[in-house]
Amino acid sequence: MPALDLDGLRPSVAWTGDRIQIIDQTKLPGEFTLLELASVDDVVDAIYRLAVRGAPAIGACGALGMVVGLDERRPRDSSSARTALAELAAVIGSARPTAVNLQWAVDRVRDVAALGESPSEVRALALTEALKIIAEDREACTLIGEAGRAELAGLTNIMTHCNTGRLATAGWGTALGVIYAKAAAGESVKVLSSETRPLLQGARLTTWELLDAGIDVTLMPDGADAAAMAQGKVEAVIVGADRIASNGDTANKIGTFSHAVNARHAGVPFYVAAPLSTFDITLESGVGIEIELRDDAELTTWRTEPTAPDEVPTWNPAFDVTPAELITAIITEVGVLRPPYETSIRAAFAAGGHQ
Ligand code: MRU
Repeated sequence: MPALDLDGLRPSVAWTGDRIQIIDQTKLPGEFTLLELASVDDVVDAIYRLAVRGAPAIGACGALGMVVGLDERRPRDSSSARTALAELAAVIGSARPTAVNLQWAVDRVRDVAALGESPSEVRALALTEALKIIAEDREACTLIGEAGRAELAGLTNIMTHCNTGRLATAGWGTALGVIYAKAAAGESVKVLSSETRPLLQGARLTTWELLDAGIDVTLMPDGADAAAMAQGKVEAVIVGADRIASNGDTANKIGTFSHAVNARHAGVPFYVAAPLSTFDITLESGVGIEIELRDDAELTTWRTEPTAPDEVPTWNPAFDVTPAELITAIITEVGVLRPPYETSIRAAFAAGGHQ
């Protein structure tokens, strides 16, 4: 069975010494292209266009974007460096609103780098912190994979949604990390990936990643989830997350909520896999999560081809919120959290969480 050798693969987000290099996720699976981000405008644009996407990956890109921003602005003293850090964290952090990892990462870089006593020290601290965030995410993915493998032991047929793997994180992924961990341990694993509207992250990215790793994957339309579960094709559903409130309500890619409702109806366990950097314990529930609304054109065209009348009004939320009551467990790097989530999430943070 294949294991994923991350060291032999291009990371989703890398630092070249003076700029960020990303895998351009808008071009896959047709083309494997690297994109260089050398300005804050490049960073914000790449995040907004989903050239880099997935909550931990945009956190990593945003964190390195703080260094790109300092290089661009060249502050003359530590006080102007601190002003620049605050402005950069606000600009980069708002490139996309739902995944908390982005604002969390830029704020973390801002706060650490602000302790620098000269512009060069500020930059050095910012870079070290950004690279630390990336290393921590990679490690968290490994731990999530192992915890999920134990939780899903004996289950072969797994449904997932969107892309949560090596493209979406600095490691082997969250929900897909569990899949990779099962494969690496020689366990039988077959993945059913829903295509994921509107940008086909499941169809374009998840199937590409898993086929590349030699893992059995079948693509289905988003709307086939209930039928697949009714026909006994699914033993568990596992998805990632963009923001998890302190009661366990989970924002993730649009369509996740439907998968959870259908899983409950079919009696199939529904798991979320996410690092603690995806939790927002300042929120009591999912009601407070801002849901990104995206451009009409993502629904009315595919690349240059129309898929709907140009003038049709659209509603294009990028995410939905799955109520905690539909979630069997949340798999994190500090273990598997179970209901009541208010208690288990609080305990996870007390034991060394980020916020
Ligand atoms: O809009 P996207 O593609 O960035 O949405 C991504 C998701 O919803 C993922 O499930 C989530 O970010 C977790 S990635 C490990």
